[in-house]
Amino acid sequence: MGTAEDKVIWETNADFWDTYMGDDSNVFHREIVRPPVEKLLQVQPGDHILDIACGTGNFSARMAELGAEVVAFDFSEKMIAHARERRRVFLDRITFAVCDATDYDGLMKLANNKRFNKAVSLMAIMDIANIEPLFRAVAQMLDPNGIFVFATHHPCFQRPTDKYLTSCSHQGEALKGQPVVQNYYHRSLQEIFNLCFTNGLVIDGFYEEKDTEDEIPVIMIVRARKPALNRLN
Ligand SMILES: C[S@@+](CC[C@H](N)C(=O)[O-])C[C@H]1O[C@@H](n2cnc3c(N)ncnc32)[C@H](O)[C@@H]1O
Repeated sequence: MGTAEDKVIWETNADFWDTYMGDDSNVFHREIVRPPVEKLLQVQPGDHILDIACGTGNFSARMAELGAEVVAFDFSEKMIAHARERRRVFLDRITFAVCDATDYDGLMKLANNKRFNKAVSLMAIMDIANIEPLFRAVAQMLDPNGIFVFATHHPCFQRPTDKYLTSCSHQGEALKGQPVVQNYYHRSLQEIFNLCFTNGLVIDGFYEEKDTEDEIPVIMIVRARKPALNRLN
């Protein structure tokens, strides 16, 4: 477990991921993940948005289509190569970069002296071994009043053991038939929310989404905001 191992896993799965997700992504992504993310993110022409752990850039392309200027990164070189190829018509509005979300200094370079007014991460927070550097960097790189929207596993209902409060890692499959299983990192709500609060962000939007007829949400979508008057401004 850990970032080095995760990177090998995602490089191994990148070609499969690209073929499986294709140009338009899968139904889960399109129908369960995207609608609440778009409601909270409210992409506007002229937005300057950081797409965290973008995979092959399906949501980066969606945001570019809506008129945003996007910086999108992933730590998998293969994912980024696929993203550049698959989203080539949007390369005037999307800059793809290879960057590790656990590397604070690397993350800070992505801003390139221009803060973002929005940041987004779709289905990746639970895949990242250490999210403390990411939340710290995002809080720094956002404009005052900027927002960070993330969709991730709902930890109350998607957890490997009954020890909900204890962070742990476990293995699983994001896409059925992927070459190798990946690592997931379980964190309680208080751990995730406190990372927002300790970095000066407030939570002002929240959805829980289910993917079957039952009433058990599989994912949660959180909007964290950097207040206009903030000690980090
Ligand atoms: C489930 S995929 C989601 C991809 C994309 N956001 C989407 O919704 O299609 C998770 C992504 O997180 C990336 N990832 C995992 N750990 C990472 C890290 N430490 N730094 C950057 N990317 C990471 C993986 O390479 C993979 O592309």
